Amino acid sequence: MASNVIAIDGPAASGKSSVAKKLASKLNIVFVSTGSLYRALAWKAIGNGLDTAKLSEDPSRLASFLSTTEIAYEKPQGESDYQVKIDDVFPMEKLHTMEVSAGASNVAKIPEVRKYLLDFQRAFAAKGNWIVMEGRDIGTEIFPDAKYKFFLTAAPEARAKRRLMQDGGTPSEEEIARVASQIAARDEQDRTRAVAPLRQAEDAFLLDNSELDLEETLSVLLFHIAPEDGGKVPTVLRYRVPYADTDNMGVVYYANYYRYFEMFRTEFMIDAGYPYAKMEEKGIALPVIESGCSYRSSAKFEDVIEVTGRIAECKGVRIRIECEIHCGGKLLATGFTVHACLDRKKGKLVRVPAILSSLMK
Ligand code: C5P
Repeated sequence: MASNVIAIDGPAASGKSSVAKKLASKLNIVFVSTGSLYRALAWKAIGNGLDTAKLSEDPSRLASFLSTTEIAYEKPQGESDYQVKIDDVFPMEKLHTMEVSAGASNVAKIPEVRKYLLDFQRAFAAKGNWIVMEGRDIGTEIFPDAKYKFFLTAAPEARAKRRLMQDGGTPSEEEIARVASQIAARDEQDRTRAVAPLRQAEDAFLLDNSELDLEETLSVLLFHIAPEDGGKVPTVLRYRVPYADTDNMGVVYYANYYRYFEMFRTEFMIDAGYPYAKMEEKGIALPVIESGCSYRSSAKFEDVIEVTGRIAECKGVRIRIECEIHCGGKLLATGFTVHACLDRKKGKLVRVPAILSSLMK
C-alpha cells in the first residue's frame, strides 16, 4: 500500500520538479526526483564509455552494469535536500547536461532498467514516511495506489521558455522554438516507448499550468490535498451580524446575503492564492450576470454566521460559485452567483483563468 505517496507525473519541463520540491518543503516531507535516478544511470554509463542507445543490445553487459551499480537517495553532508547517490558519488549538477538528458531517455526505455528502479522506488517508499515522488510513471506503474496523483502539463512553448529562463536572460523566439522541439522529441520518446510510457493515470488530477506561476500551481495542488494530510483547509467566512445589517423585523435584511456571498468570494480567492486584486492587475474582472438565494431561516444581531462555498461550474467564459450560510449549525440560506469573465481593457469576454477552473473539485 502506497497511500503515503503524492505522485506528480508529466512531460519534461512541465514544472513538476519545482512544484514537487515546494510541496514537499511545505508539507515537510521528502521529495524524490525519479528522473535523477535515470539520469544517474545514464551518467555512469556514459562515464564508463557505454553508448546508452545501445546498452540493451548486450544483455550480459547490461546485467553486469546493473548488478555492479548501487543507487541510494540521501542527503549529502551539509545539504538540506535529498539527492541521488550512485556508487557512493553524488553527481548533482553533472546530471543536467544535454548528453545525460538524452542518455536518461535512452536508458529509461530498457525494461531491466525500469524494473531495477521500480524496486528501488518501492523500497524507498516502504520506509513508511510521506513522500512526494515526481516522474513519468509514478501514478501509473510505480504506485498505482498512491493517495494523491497529479499530472502536470503545459504547452511546449511555455515549457521551453521556462527551461531557458532557468539559465537566465530573455530567450529569443528561435531559441524557444529550438528547445520546444527538443522537448517535444523527448516527450515523444517517453510517450511511445513500450514499457511504462508517459501517460496520465485515469484517477490523476490533470493540471495544465501554461498560464500558472509556481505559487499558483502549488496552491492548486494543496487545494486538492485533504487538510489532514497538510492540504488547504476549506475557506469558511465567520461574521458577527452587526446592527446595521438587520431590518425592522430584527433579522438580517435579505439583500445582505448577497454581500455575504461576496465577502466569502474575497476570502476564497485569497486562500486560493489568487486574490481579486491580483486578478484585476491582470486586467480580468468577474461581473455577476446571474444570482439566486433561497432562504430557510434567519439570523439576528450578534449572531455569528458561517459562509462556505465552492466553484461549482466553469465553462468557457462563465463561472458559477455556490454558497451556504449556517448559524449555530442551522442552515440559513443557499445561494449562487454566475460570473462572466471580462478582459477589462478590451471590454471582451475571455476564458476563465486556468487557476479558477483548477480549483473545482
Ligand atoms: O524528469 P527528468 O527530465 O529528470 O527525467 C529524465 C528522463 O528520465 C526523462 O526524459 C524520462 O525519459 C526518464 N524518466 C522516466 N520515468 C520517470 C522519470 C524519468 O522514464 N519516472
